[in-house]
Amino acid sequence: MAKEMKYITFALAKGRLAKQTLGLLEQIGITCEEMKDEKTRKLIFVNEELGFKFFLSKATDVPTYVEMGAADIGVVGKDTILEEGRKLYEVLDLNCGKCRMCVAGPLSAKELLNNGSLIRVASKYPAIAKDYFYNKKHQTAEIIKLNGSVELAPIVGLSEVIVDIVETGSTLKENGLEVLEEICPLSARVVVNEVSMKMQHGRITKLIQQLKTVIPR
Ligand code: PRP
Repeated sequence: MAKEMKYITFALAKGRLAKQTLGLLEQIGITCEEMKDEKTRKLIFVNEELGFKFFLSKATDVPTYVEMGAADIGVVGKDTILEEGRKLYEVLDLNCGKCRMCVAGPLSAKELLNNGSLIRVASKYPAIAKDYFYNKKHQTAEIIKLNGSVELAPIVGLSEVIVDIVETGSTLKENGLEVLEEICPLSARVVVNEVSMKMQHGRITKLIQQLKTVIPR
């Protein structure tokens, strides 16, 4: 990398999505060998030659790093982008990690969604759930924030329904629950810090153009 060149820093959501993203970056010649080491506990990786840094963070923190400029670019699910509501540019749909944000519950809860009654909704995504019930459905709802295994809530009587991600649908099925309403489709997105987009416009737009050519169809 030329001396005067600034690093472009990527924040990647830890896990499967980071792996898929690294696969796409590799296809456009951006590699990071040390990151492939499955056993490493290191959190930040540098490609000196190309001037890229990569770090892995919890998915929910990716929009924070990008908004605050600690990362120039982030790759994270649309679910997290919607939930976090940060100020950033969403520039590209990577068409992977595809799933749906849904209202789910036992079939018996379906009528509660149609008659405007007060309903309890458990979710890891309280902002998305609130927006959907208050602003789109105009239904009075008590939103209960959970941190995982949300499918439990209607089974043990904590809530009537849940708002959660459905991918294959098998978690719902195995727990006797069904998709009752679909909120929106989800997939992995590339987000960019607003200042970086101006200051590093050339390199970032080139990168986006290159990524466009390798997105899975
Ligand atoms: C997600 C989601 C569902 C499940 C959906 O959970 O919250 O539980 O995956 O996938 P499926 O439709 O293919 O069954 P995750 O694995 O992230 O775990 P968590 O619920 O503990 O957060």
